[in-house]
Amino acid sequence: MNLRAKWEAQADQWIAWARAPGHDSFWRHHRDQFLSLVPAPGRLTIDIGCGEGRLARHLGGLGHAVVGIDASPSLAAAAHASDPAMAIVLADAARLPLTDACADLAIAFMSLQDIDAMPEAVREIARVLAPGGRFCLAVVHPINSAGRFETRAPDAPFIIKGDYLRPFESADLVERDGLAMTFHSRHWSLESYFLALEQAGFLVEALREPELPDHALVSEASRRWQRVPLFLHLRARRT
Ligand SMILES: C[S@@+](CC[C@H](N)C(=O)[O-])C[C@H]1O[C@@H](n2cnc3c(N)ncnc32)[C@H](O)[C@@H]1O
Repeated sequence: MNLRAKWEAQADQWIAWARAPGHDSFWRHHRDQFLSLVPAPGRLTIDIGCGEGRLARHLGGLGHAVVGIDASPSLAAAAHASDPAMAIVLADAARLPLTDACADLAIAFMSLQDIDAMPEAVREIARVLAPGGRFCLAVVHPINSAGRFETRAPDAPFIIKGDYLRPFESADLVERDGLAMTFHSRHWSLESYFLALEQAGFLVEALREPELPDHALVSEASRRWQRVPLFLHLRARRT
């Protein structure tokens, strides 16, 4: 089963997880940290891997004209049902049914590590952006996907036992507050992401490794994520 099919199989769990108020990092800090890199609304904003639509709805509220793209039929349907006025397209990010240069902003919030053909998706994003258009992405930080803390202690050693440089697939079952979700993803090195951007004609103009803010600490144990970044944020310009 590819990642796309695995996300469809987890669609109900993801909808419950993503929509539980304050449940995950999106609500506690991540969305707002990411938005600091996102340009003001322009002509058209494409949200790649929009899932059940929580960021697309928020961007719509900020004045963006949004088209959401997702490859999971159940998640695309949930996004559409949540706001029938919002354009949601069921499609693979590596084959976008959109015309060349139709948009001035593309967002991939926490989706590139979940897309089977990441470099092809980045090429497609470049194709649908007009020259000068911006691409803003958030991914699981490659150091995070490559390794693990040895324990949950705030000063626990962070260990990379396997291979950082080569991509590999992972399935992480996370259970919290009565909800369970298996995250199916692929680890990509930092260079893999940057090569995909370089080969698609993007110039990186901003990069952030956001620290977990004090207000988002849920326990003493979560302080370990103030030493190692959870996420990587980046804004690139289409040349
Ligand atoms: C972690 S979820 C992020 C959803 C949303 N951006 C959010 O933060 O709430 C990853 C999303 O990527 C989607 N996805 C996986 N493979 C895809 C593909 N090939 N093309 C488009 N979307 C894909 C999944 O269906 C899922 O909705």
